[in-house]
Amino acid sequence: MTARKIIIDTDPGQDDAVAILLALASPDEIEVLGITAVAGNVPLELTAKNARIVCELAGRTDIPVFAGCDRPLKRPLITAEHVHGKTGLDGPVLPDPQIPLAEGHGVDFIIDTLRAQDSGTVTLCPLGPLTNIATAFQKAPDIVERVQEIVLMGGAYFEVGNITPTAEFNIHVDPEAADIVFKSGVPIVVMPLDVTHKALVTKPRNDAFRALGTKVGIAVAEMTDFFERFDKEKYGSEGAPLHDPCVTAYLIRPELFSGRHVNVEIETQSDLTLGMTVADWWGVTDRKPNALFIGDVDADGFFALLTERLARL
Ligand code: BDR
Ligand code: CA
Repeated sequence: MTARKIIIDTDPGQDDAVAILLALASPDEIEVLGITAVAGNVPLELTAKNARIVCELAGRTDIPVFAGCDRPLKRPLITAEHVHGKTGLDGPVLPDPQIPLAEGHGVDFIIDTLRAQDSGTVTLCPLGPLTNIATAFQKAPDIVERVQEIVLMGGAYFEVGNITPTAEFNIHVDPEAADIVFKSGVPIVVMPLDVTHKALVTKPRNDAFRALGTKVGIAVAEMTDFFERFDKEKYGSEGAPLHDPCVTAYLIRPELFSGRHVNVEIETQSDLTLGMTVADWWGVTDRKPNALFIGDVDADGFFALLTERLARL
């Protein structure tokens, strides 16, 4: 199996961090060409810092980390310190990064990489608001048809919303960017809240991370310890949902996931439902399917994979 080339576009975030660690722990399946940070959970300065902290935690100082867009296309930035803490990575105490940011803008890295690599061989993995990806598509429309696939975390249908009653955070923060991406024609796989709320770090699962006894295992346990308080209070759930790792787990073991190929449109007009992912799950329109919308995961298989891979770091 040749490793799939990916760019991770991210706003770490504890769950982003675990998604990145899973990718870096899986070189047989995934080749991370670079990481682009975007403003989201916390402002860009912090997401760009956190991405480097995570690479260093994994011992992968060779991965270039770029800073991308510092605000959504048309709106002021909304952040989520209430979920992720002031730093975005609250929980473990991790050293400041030694590696500098890579030179250049994250959007240009996305464009240059897609032009430099063979067409159809690079997958984009957005784990935050879609600002960098949409900006790259607007600036360089020629790259759109060169993208192999976009596998992203965002949206919800049955779970409706987490940041508003009807919208999931990543899509709500930059709905215009999401609209551009969903209309791009690139094959898209979506990990919405419908599936990520099934990937819950229960106590035994978190104990298994901690029991690895490694720097990475303990840091991941401490991240989810912090991150879980929000979902436990809000949803009464058993633990933290590992939203973003669903994206990287899908690249490694797609058979753990199931969904439907449906049409997904983004609400960009209504104040009430801004950023809603209107997924035609029941096929009640004749709008053309544009995304594989995932609804289910084999959660035990997912956590077995994650624990086994984190142990390698
Ligand atoms: C998404 O928003 C962020 O808080 C998480 O990192 C995840 O990408 C979940 O709605
Ligand atoms: Ca994220």
